[in-house]
Amino acid sequence: MPILSHHLDQSRVMEIQSSSSSRASSKRKSAIPCPSTKLIICIFLVLTVLILLHMQPSSFFPSTKSNFMSKLRDSVTFLPLKDLRFTNTAMEGNTWFMSSLNDTREENEAEYLYFPSESSKGRLLCIKGNDTEDGTKNSYALAWPECLPDSATLLSGLTFVSDTYYDYENLWHGVSAIAPFVGWSLKNGCSKPTRWVLFHWGELRDRMGTWIHNITQANFGEVFIERFSGEGGDGPYCFEEAVVMRHNVGKMGKERKLHVFDMLRCKARLFCGLSPGGRGKEVNRRGQPVIRLTLLMRRGSRSFKDPAAVITVFARECAMVEGCIMEVSQSEDLSFCDQVKVMTNTDIVVSPHGAQLTNMLFMDRNSRIMEFFPKGWLELAGVGQYAHHWMAEMSGMDHTGSWWETLGEKECPNPQNDLECFNFYKDGQVGHNETYFAEWARTVLNQVRTSKLEKKTKRSQAKSNVCKC
Ligand SMILES: *[C@@H]1O[C@H](CO)[C@@H](O)[C@H](O)[C@H]1NC(C)=O
Ligand SMILES: *[C@@H]1O[C@H](CO)[C@@H](O)[C@H](O)[C@H]1NC(C)=O
Ligand SMILES: *[C@@H]1O[C@H](CO)[C@@H](O)[C@H](O)[C@H]1NC(C)=O
Ligand SMILES: *[C@@H]1O[C@H](CO)[C@@H](O)[C@H](O)[C@H]1NC(C)=O
Repeated sequence: MPILSHHLDQSRVMEIQSSSSSRASSKRKSAIPCPSTKLIICIFLVLTVLILLHMQPSSFFPSTKSNFMSKLRDSVTFLPLKDLRFTNTAMEGNTWFMSSLNDTREENEAEYLYFPSESSKGRLLCIKGNDTEDGTKNSYALAWPECLPDSATLLSGLTFVSDTYYDYENLWHGVSAIAPFVGWSLKNGCSKPTRWVLFHWGELRDRMGTWIHNITQANFGEVFIERFSGEGGDGPYCFEEAVVMRHNVGKMGKERKLHVFDMLRCKARLFCGLSPGGRGKEVNRRGQPVIRLTLLMRRGSRSFKDPAAVITVFARECAMVEGCIMEVSQSEDLSFCDQVKVMTNTDIVVSPHGAQLTNMLFMDRNSRIMEFFPKGWLELAGVGQYAHHWMAEMSGMDHTGSWWETLGEKECPNPQNDLECFNFYKDGQVGHNETYFAEWARTVLNQVRTSKLEKKTKRSQAKSNVCKC
């Protein structure tokens, strides 16, 4: 019974409140219209009052203010998220995503947009954007918090809004989309987002691939991806605070990238229950430095044609170097944390070209990469084939080079058409050259051993490996 009476009390209170507030608002209304018979007196009074108030009508007449507010509300203009005028230069300048807004540029940082800010004149970012197939059907606008567009939902907290030309599934592409937010957070008191809004060409995306999801979670905690399907229907939704990234790592400087990848590595190791500092200095029974060589294999496209032969070559070279331990891992079979663990325990990774190599970022800095391509890539793939050279540079690794299977005679159906021809070869398997692989392995193993021996004699520098955020 006490619960019920409390309930009744509450509803009575609410009744009283609502009736008193409706009285208040009706009082306010009745004060405005002047009866026509007393019009002249009314105008006189108004003028007198205006003079007395030093010409500040808006503070005295709520209707004038609310008129003004409703005009502001109606003047909020939504523009398409994807601006087709920039179709041919979608990767340059402002990009076609929110094309009317300029990025904030700070030395060495990824370019970003922040709302509300001085440059947005205190306005919030609003998005009406649940279309998943056509970015021109989604739209954005800026609005003052006091005059959000009608039926807008205000989403509180910090929102990370990303637009990528690529996707949030592929390891390489996904991590390049996430990295600038890690950089922004590092610089801004390690702030964590309440939600993510993901776009590709202005089209809404409602998930990240598992690996991307996990690395994001490792950095920022629980990942909530906004789908614009809450109580506010398809929107608009306005964000209390929003950071927008639309160039991936873009203009981020080399040092900044290294910090971001240090952070990604450190957080992933903690997330997976490993020591953030890695395995430290590992020596074998004879006190010699341990060198861990990992063959990171894949199945299907771009797998080794004869994995057993490749394993034999590397195993033989490894056996000839004091302290060398070899492991063969099948990348598809590893969970996110298994991948982090394998790579934390790797000094040299041997792997065919593919997204699995993005895992290199979990190795200690200055670890080594040996990459292998099927035929056709050197001749036809263009700069994209250097993606893992860039990844190595960003994450502070040593890419020791690539081996390309030679193309020889072009066997593609239409040898004149390079693109068609590349698509023909792209997902082929990777052969091997025993002599070349053995010599290369020997060189890299000896380099790693030498550098480990040098480090062993140097006094170990006490380096803090605690994650910065
Ligand atoms: C964006 O930058 C361009 C070129 O610097 C400038 O002309 C334009 O006025 C800027 N737009 C806004 C909205 O600040
Ligand atoms: C990785 O993310 C998936 C969902 O994308 C989730 O099911 C899984 O539990 C995550 N792994 C860890 C270790 O949290
Ligand atoms: C977007 O929202 C509208 C209104 O709620 C709904 O009818 C539509 O199906 C949604 N579109 C997508 C792609 O979810
Ligand atoms: C294999 O590699 C060796 C050493 O680089 C080279 O001399 C030889 O021509 C290569 N063999 C083939 C078939 O390409």
